[in-house]
Amino acid sequence: MSNIITRSANGVMNWVNERAPALMPMYRKHMTEYYAPKNFNIWYIFGVLSLVVLVNQIVTGIFLTMHYKPSAAEAFASVEYIMRDVQWGWLIRYMHSTGASLFFVVVYIHMFRGLMYGSYKKPRELVWILGMLIYLVLMAEAFLGYVLPWGQMSFWGAKVIISLFGAIPVIGGGLVEWIMGDYLPGDATLNRFFALHVIALPLVLLLLVVLHLGALHEVGSNNPDGVEIKKGPKGNRWSPTAPTDGIPFHPYYTVKDTMYVGFFLIIAAFIIFFAPAFGGWFLEHDNFTEANRLVTPAHIKPVWYYTPYYAMLRVVPDKLAGVLVMFGAIAILFLVPWLDRAKVKSVRYRGWITKAMLAMLVVCFVWLGKIGAGPGTDPVETIIGRVLTFLYFAFFITMPLWTKIDKTKPVPERVTMHD
Ligand code: HEM
Repeated sequence: MSNIITRSANGVMNWVNERAPALMPMYRKHMTEYYAPKNFNIWYIFGVLSLVVLVNQIVTGIFLTMHYKPSAAEAFASVEYIMRDVQWGWLIRYMHSTGASLFFVVVYIHMFRGLMYGSYKKPRELVWILGMLIYLVLMAEAFLGYVLPWGQMSFWGAKVIISLFGAIPVIGGGLVEWIMGDYLPGDATLNRFFALHVIALPLVLLLLVVLHLGALHEVGSNNPDGVEIKKGPKGNRWSPTAPTDGIPFHPYYTVKDTMYVGFFLIIAAFIIFFAPAFGGWFLEHDNFTEANRLVTPAHIKPVWYYTPYYAMLRVVPDKLAGVLVMFGAIAILFLVPWLDRAKVKSVRYRGWITKAMLAMLVVCFVWLGKIGAGPGTDPVETIIGRVLTFLYFAFFITMPLWTKIDKTKPVPERVTMHD
């Protein structure tokens, strides 16, 4: 029996190979002959988890689109219909809405891994830049998606965020009207946001992810030691020319990643089934009430993944300056490959200054996130927010200095293995 299956499978493979001979070499280049460093640790699974969540968002999004109505009169009711009447609709909707937050959880950890191990440094600057573009598109995609259910926070969130463009001198007012297609978020806004959310941005996102991985596979993966395995000795049990410290991505990492994907799915299922709104952090309470342009919610605040930037916007007294600081906080991340002057990539072989600075960055980001999620009325908190914003920028602006003076340890020639 198994003989018949093997022969049939080989037959199909040969048939495809004859007609598309470029496919097999591509599969080998990116899977069986992609030699990844053998010392990857748990921080290296978040790229794959980002892919898993991306697929989840696309698949569940397609099913939501089958029942959703992109009109201001019907959107909210159509989401209620999905939740109550469509078979398994509640699950599909929560997989998508909780999936959005999980996307940011894994992407933030993935980015932090890059910062820890200096994965943005030469020759992977382009991988980082493409990653940052993904991050920008992801933020836009999530913002547009949040508007679609047409709840109170959809409406007022859209109004506040789009109005930020009004701070731009001369063209600001016209730009706000142009984006909304109206004087307030309305039918035209919802229609265009729907088009962008379900087709335009997902296409851009997919393209960027392909480029991100393509750029990575050209130069090869970094690793927790920051050792370039391609510069080390050559030859292993699979190939005489492959890096000795590399192992084929398939089957070694595909098997390892599958196990971690399993753990991740268990945690994700737990949240989706038992706490899909996550106490108002993933879906705000106000968004379970239909949009009403005559009633402003008590606290208009974005979802948690934007709140660090939102806090920066709020603690700066001038609106235009606040907008510039907010966008600047994201833009400065693009420059990291050129701000870091250290000779060593990984935090493992850097001194205490790098460790302290990274810890400070995390504290600033999380604390600002907490401030941004609050009502923003406490003057002490505003001052703390200003200090944190200052420290956040100080991390990047002074990076050329502290990465240079930080005492580094000698990097081993070969990757090291830890249990
Ligand atoms: C949809 C979002 C994303 C997906 C699906 C994705 C996917 C991946 C995958 C599969 C890898 C290889 C496995 C790994 O090293 O973890 C990777 C590596 C990498 N990604 Fe992403 N990524 C995303 C977003 C980002 C973002 C936002 C950044 C940073 C701004 C980024 C920066 C990097 C870097 C620097 C590497 C190389 C890491 C190394 O070799 O040490 N990625 N990405």
